[in-house]
Amino acid sequence: MHMHNAPVGVFDSGLGGVSVLKEAVRCLPHEHFIYYGDNLHAPYGDRPEQEITRLSAQCADILTEKGVKALLVACNTATGAAIRLIRSKLDVPVVSMEPAIKPACQSPGNGKILMCATYATTQLERYKKLKTRMPDPERIIDVPCPGIVDIIEQGNFCYSAFEKALDKCLGRYEGALIDGLVLGCTHYIFIKDVFYRYARSRFRGQCRMFDGNAATVRQLTRVLSANDMLKVCGTGSVSFFTSGDRAKYQPLFNMLLHY
Ligand code: DGL
Repeated sequence: MHMHNAPVGVFDSGLGGVSVLKEAVRCLPHEHFIYYGDNLHAPYGDRPEQEITRLSAQCADILTEKGVKALLVACNTATGAAIRLIRSKLDVPVVSMEPAIKPACQSPGNGKILMCATYATTQLERYKKLKTRMPDPERIIDVPCPGIVDIIEQGNFCYSAFEKALDKCLGRYEGALIDGLVLGCTHYIFIKDVFYRYARSRFRGQCRMFDGNAATVRQLTRVLSANDMLKVCGTGSVSFFTSGDRAKYQPLFNMLLHY
């Protein structure tokens, strides 16, 4: 198979990475994508680092065996724990996620930035280092949001379920001056409007929303192009694999891809 025609592999702990895949399909309509969701082991965010590293490396291996020309790690948690290992093991280019704290910190205002992510992402060295590179790291408040990923993985898109979970992690900042919220988990992108609605009803300030999806797909495009791998004509495709129950997750995958 010619390199241009080989697929791009995309993985996440579950279906959160579909939010990145959607953007990738929109920007790169001629590419073939293979998505792997490790639904059996989601969420990763409450697991110890070693386990996240092992599971993430396994996802990368599964996609490598399928002959991908490049890998997109569509998971902030997997990136934080395993990106160095994955890069060292793979011969193909690897693109990964990063919580969008840089654009958030560049936004005007005297308020705080709430960085919403999995517990693991907020604790991992990679993110802590990224934060020290910001001009004013004390402006950022890390907010682990346990529970949200599970609700999305169940396909339960009901506002009240999310509101209860958001109350537990964001409720304590009621009345605070908040300039922005960073969605540092790819699952959260599907409920960006829920975060925004919640934030505007509880906080003062602009509550601008930031995420890394568009920048990541721009990086993927640059990397494919620089490696002469970009597929510029012909029909693209998307295929889905999961470590979980396919009968359960395939319909949810289809729904989220067009959400
Ligand atoms: N979607 C993932 C992320 O971007 C992780 C969710 C999880 O498995 O906890 O961090």
